[in-house]
Amino acid sequence: MRIIVTKSYEEMSKMAARIFAGQLYVKPASVLGLATGSTPLGLYKELIALYQSSRLDFSEAVSFNLDEYIGLKREDVQSYHYFMKENLFSKVNIRPENIYIPRGDAPDIQRECQLYDSLIAQKGGIDLQVLGIGRNAHIGFNEPDDKFEVKTHKVCLKEETIKANARFFANPAAVPHYAISMGIKTIMQAKKILLLANGKAKAEAIYETVCGGVCPSVPASILQLHCDVDIILDEAAASLLPNDLCKFN
Ligand code: PGA
Repeated sequence: MRIIVTKSYEEMSKMAARIFAGQLYVKPASVLGLATGSTPLGLYKELIALYQSSRLDFSEAVSFNLDEYIGLKREDVQSYHYFMKENLFSKVNIRPENIYIPRGDAPDIQRECQLYDSLIAQKGGIDLQVLGIGRNAHIGFNEPDDKFEVKTHKVCLKEETIKANARFFANPAAVPHYAISMGIKTIMQAKKILLLANGKAKAEAIYETVCGGVCPSVPASILQLHCDVDIILDEAAASLLPNDLCKFN
């Protein structure tokens, strides 16, 4: 794990964008694993700016998102389909046919999960996976549990996740209680992982992820076993980490 501490959310996002852009320069047909939530918004803004200045090309890239709420249609403004379209896809030249997000309105959710894993495998696996982290250290929607769920699966969201995500909904009672999420194995099979976290509210999850034991009650702790993980933090998210583990930027 490389832990890079930046001065601010903006610096964190710029550094993540540099690593992301590097991946696309080296391999234009990269398979990208993408995340939703407030954390990657700055990264997506930087990527759009790089695209607009003609320094980044998504025309050969393929993307797979980590998760989607069950029960929301793709055009629902609260769906992750909508989020990705609004915040990245409609503003860069990724081809619509190369975008994959689990369908939360699929008639057969189990089949949708199986299909998603086989599509990822068919495309050669994920080259670079972007992750945020929940306050409870979830990655994707892999919630704390007594075992790691390996494959793409249906998740019953934890109360704290529903509460945290209610801020995106006009009616907090409308937050879905179920989601589809890539599994831990799918995430761990990515060749490179970029985990981003900012703000004091994430400091404890980051501390447990980096300094605690590997266990399913701290889902992100599994990343300790991956051979190529960059964790990019702002100072607040890094505030509980010992200095000697961090590279300050
Ligand atoms: P956030 O969510 O980026 O909105 O904090 C991250 C997550 O829950 O994975």
